[in-house]
Parts: sequence; structure tokens; C-alpha cells
Amino acid sequence: MAVILDGKSLALKLRENIRIETEKLIEQYHKQPHLVVILIGENPASQSYVKSKEKACIKAGIKSTVIRKDADISEKELIDIIKTLNNDDSVHGILLQLPIPKHLDEDKIINLINPTKDVDGFCNDNVARLNKGQDALVPCTPLGITKILDEYQIDATGKHCVIIGRSQIVGKPMAALMLKRNATVTMCHSKTTDIKSITKQADILIVAIGRANMVDASYVKPGAVVIDVGINRVDDQLTGDVLYDDVEKVCGYITPVPGGVGKMTIACLLDNTLTCYKRIEGEKND
Ligand code: GUN
Repeated sequence: MAVILDGKSLALKLRENIRIETEKLIEQYHKQPHLVVILIGENPASQSYVKSKEKACIKAGIKSTVIRKDADISEKELIDIIKTLNNDDSVHGILLQLPIPKHLDEDKIINLINPTKDVDGFCNDNVARLNKGQDALVPCTPLGITKILDEYQIDATGKHCVIIGRSQIVGKPMAALMLKRNATVTMCHSKTTDIKSITKQADILIVAIGRANMVDASYVKPGAVVIDVGINRVDDQLTGDVLYDDVEKVCGYITPVPGGVGKMTIACLLDNTLTCYKRIEGEKND
């Protein structure tokens, strides 16, 4: 029987610690941390994520503003919104919910966000800093995974970490973080041939491919740590990229879906917002 990596409990603990720290910092700086989320269009998954982010902020004592715009917003209007938020002293974190409509240049717009307010860690400045092993704002999902590994004292040094999925949001920053932890990292993706022969060598297997139940026990080395980043809706139920009931019989550790990585993502967004707040307000009060 595998050890269940309980991201839900860890996220609750982290959120409570953030709430307590926020309360103290508001007394010190006489200002509330403030996250602004920009949501464009009517994507139901995005709307649901944004609602969860909003609720989590409020519970933690962080001010939350959601700017909702129609899908046909012009690039100029969106750029003006971001520039205004960059210059607004009451705003500590800016998050542009992805995906955004195709007529908008995602990369260009993300890179207009002030790197010190970039709670997603998606802008070039933070990506470069992370890849150089420097202090950076780290994307929330990979950050959450490292916190789960720490909580269960899973040391990556010298271990073979295989990551399936090369997205900017998860796979690539995850690889940088695992390298920093002295793992040997292999990236697999949709064009990788004979993926099983690689994943079977993994001491730590991180799956972020977005295909429901793709990874079964035949992909997994006995005793491995399996981290499932997938959130797929199948027959109105949430399911991961890993076939849980099959894999948990062979692996050593596993994250469930729901109750694993997903809950940590939101907790880490609060954490990143507080990090931005502390840097911005701390510098003003130095
Ligand atoms: N869409 C799906 N995941 C994310 C995320 O972590 N950040 C943003 N901004 N958009 C997303």
C-alpha cells in the first residue's frame, strides 16, 4: 500500500499559517495584501478556478479583486489595465487567468506584468531567475509539489525524476526546481517514443500531460513517488492523469485526485501573493 501524499491537509495547514502571518503583517504595514485577477471571456473551468482563488484570498485576509472582461477585449485595453495595476501601490499581485483568447498575444502580455507582482512566476524575468537557480517567484503548481515533497521528507538528491509534460506552467519550471534539488531530470512529452521504458526508471514520476488515467502500473517502478498533476473531468467526476487504483498497488507514494496537487496550487498562490506583499511593503519601510 502506497503512502498517500495528502495535499489537501497540507494546503489547509499552509493557508492557516498564511492567514496568521497576514494578520500580523497588516498590523505592521497598515495595509492589506491585494491580489488582482484578470479573467477574460466565459471559459467555465477558468471561472471556477478564479472563484476558488477569490474565496481562498478572502479566508486568508488577502484582498481579492477580479477584473472580468469580454472575450473580444482589445489588446490595447488589456495592456492599459496591466500598466495601471503595475503602477497601483495598493496592488501586490497580478494574475492573468489563462488561457486567453487567441487574438491576444499571451507571451507579450504576460511580460508586461511587473516581475515583482508576477504571482504566477510566468514572466521572462522570473523564468530566467528560476532557471539560473536564483531567487524567483515560482509557478504555483510546481511550488506546491516541492512543498509536498518537503512535508514527506522526500529527498530528490541523486534520484531520477521523470516529468511527463513540457508546459510553461508545470513541466518546465518543475524540471528547474528538481534540478535545483540535485535530481537527475528527464522530460517526456507527446513526441517521446517508448515513454514507458523511461518512466519505469523514475524514482520520482511527475505526470502533467492532461490525459485522464494515462499512466497505469506498467509505467511505474515499484516504490516510486508518483505525483499526479492532472485534473480531468470524466463522466462528471474529477480524475487525474494517473490510474490511481492500479498505480497505488506498486508505487511507494502517490498524490490523489482530488485532494493532492490541486489544493496546493491555490495555497501557493496565496503564498506568492504574500511574498510579493512582503517585498513591496518591506522595501518601502526599510
Ligand atoms: N490556467 C490554468 N492554470 C493556471 C495558472 O496556474 N495560472 C494562470 N494564470 N492561469 C492558469
